[in-house]
Formats: sequence, C-alpha cells, structure tokens
Amino acid sequence: MLAFPLHAQEKSGPMQSGTHTGPPAAAAGVPAVQTGASAEEFDVDKLFAGTCGWCHSKGGREVGKGPRLMNSESSDEALASRIRNGKTGQMPAFGSAFSETQIRAIVAYIRGLRPEN
Ligand code: HEC
Repeated sequence: MLAFPLHAQEKSGPMQSGTHTGPPAAAAGVPAVQTGASAEEFDVDKLFAGTCGWCHSKGGREVGKGPRLMNSESSDEALASRIRNGKTGQMPAFGSAFSETQIRAIVAYIRGLRPEN
C-alpha cells in the first residue's frame, strides 16, 4: 500500500513541453527569421541608389569607389557582414542603420542584380 505518490512533485508548476527557446540559427549562419519591418515596405532600389550608389555604381552593377557587387563571389553571410560592419577607411558600417530584415533584403537585391541591357 502506498501512502504517498511515488514521485512527489518537488517543484510545482506545469511540465515544460520541451520547446526550445530557439534554434542557434545565427551561429550556424542560417538567415534568421526576423519579425521587423517587412521587406515589402522598404524600397531597396531606392535605398541602394541613395545610400550605396555613390560608391557602388549603377546600382551595384559597376565598379565605382567600391567594387562591383553584381556576381559577387562572396557568400551571403559575407555580404551581410560587410554591410553591417563596413570596412575601415573604405566603407561605412550600416549595422545600426538597417534592421536584419533590411540587410537580408539588400543581400537579396545584390544577388538579383543583372546587367542593365
Ligand atoms: C564610401 C563608399 C561606400 C559606400 C557608401 C558603400 N560602400 Fe560598400 N564597399 C565599399 C568598398 C570600398 C568596398 C570594398 C571593401 C572590401 O571588401 O575590401 C565595399 C564592399 C561592399 C560589399 C562586399 C562586396 C563583396 O563582393 O564582398 C558589399 C556587399 C557592399 N559593399 C554593400 C554596400 C551597401 C549595401 C551599401 C549601402 C548601404 C554600401 N556598400 C555603401 C565602399 C562603399
């Protein structure tokens, strides 16, 4: 005869359902899904022309003060990181100017660049 439950609950409270707090996506270099400004309400072409265009000519299609971005051999992560961190003496850092979502949109824009004609 058992007078007590076998496993008396030492901690009260509901069992956690085993959900993890989040995948280590950033560490693995996987694009993190952000819930910020949506890419739609953000005009990448315009932004690029205004903010990046004086160094990355023709929307990034040609060499200017900065390199041509079209057909870059850098990884998405390297592109995003360059935009976030800039490069001392060469390119300003934009990590505090843009959200992660916006940076992803800019990387997508760069990947989508095609010759103009
Ligand atoms: C003052 C000039 C300047 C401005 C403004 C500028 N860049 Fe750059 N950018 C450069 C230079 C110079 C480099 C080459 C640095 C390096 O990686 O050695 C570069 C490199 C990059 C690269 C890396 C290219 C590759 O193939 O790895 C990316 C991506 C980039 N810029 C995106 C941007 C974006 C997006 C903006 C606007 C938000 C911007 N840049 C604004 C000068 C500029």
